[in-house]
Amino acid sequence: MIKIQSFTGSLEREHLLGLARLRIEVFRDFPYLYDGHMEYEEEYLQTYISSPDSVVVVAFDGDKIVGASTGLPLEHDTENIRRPWQDKGFDVKKIFYYGESVLRKAYRGQGIGVRFFEHRERWARQLSRFDLLTFCGVVRPDDHPLRPPDYVPLDSFWRKRGFEKTKDIVCNISWKDIDEEYETDKPLHFWYKKINGKALG
Ligand SMILES: CC(C)(COP(=O)(O)OP(=O)(O)OC[C@H]1O[C@@H](n2cnc3c(N)ncnc32)[C@H](O)[C@@H]1OP(=O)(O)O)[C@@H](O)C(=O)NCCC(=O)NCCS
Repeated sequence: MIKIQSFTGSLEREHLLGLARLRIEVFRDFPYLYDGHMEYEEEYLQTYISSPDSVVVVAFDGDKIVGASTGLPLEHDTENIRRPWQDKGFDVKKIFYYGESVLRKAYRGQGIGVRFFEHRERWARQLSRFDLLTFCGVVRPDDHPLRPPDYVPLDSFWRKRGFEKTKDIVCNISWKDIDEEYETDKPLHFWYKKINGKALG
């Protein structure tokens, strides 16, 4: 039996470490290809620890963490994530940012990913100061050598959650791919959904 629970405000270290381990496991696959290590994760997670309005949604199978998803006010995220919105004239105080959704393969296709989106949207709406939700997805060329032949992009899943791709709002995040020697910048394209602070209907 899977239990899904949101943790907000002060996040328990145990849950953040569970999230870090899942990110390293799940993001090793295409399109992220992230060659993760705990040092990078500690720095990444600090942003969530420091934001009083962040949320981590955790999926538990018994006491095992099998999935997790995060969000925080964009104004509390790092400069590389905020800047593309500021450059387009948006007020970052009115935007809530979704960090990631990561779920062990054996648990996919049961609606858990949908619930990650619902929990985070509920939290963002409850804070009552956001007009937009956003997240970004990595951009990889269609002919990338590590793209599996059966790879299905998540675009239709995201559209069903009410998100649209921005025309040209992109950011760069640096990490080391599994086939790289050093970290390099990766382009990520932002998606968005308007909410205007109304209660989740
Ligand atoms: C993104 C991710 C978390 C989605 O998780 P998921 O639990 O498999 O997704 P869901 O089961 O909620 O939804 C997937 C589909 O199954 C459908 N579904 C919902 N409930 C279902 C159920 N009970 N049984 C079967 N399918 C169901 C959903 O409607 C959705 O359909 P759609 O793709 O046509 O929209 C997961 O694929 C993942 O971890 N991917 C790798 C990491 C990643 O790329 N993350 C996103 C970037 S941060």
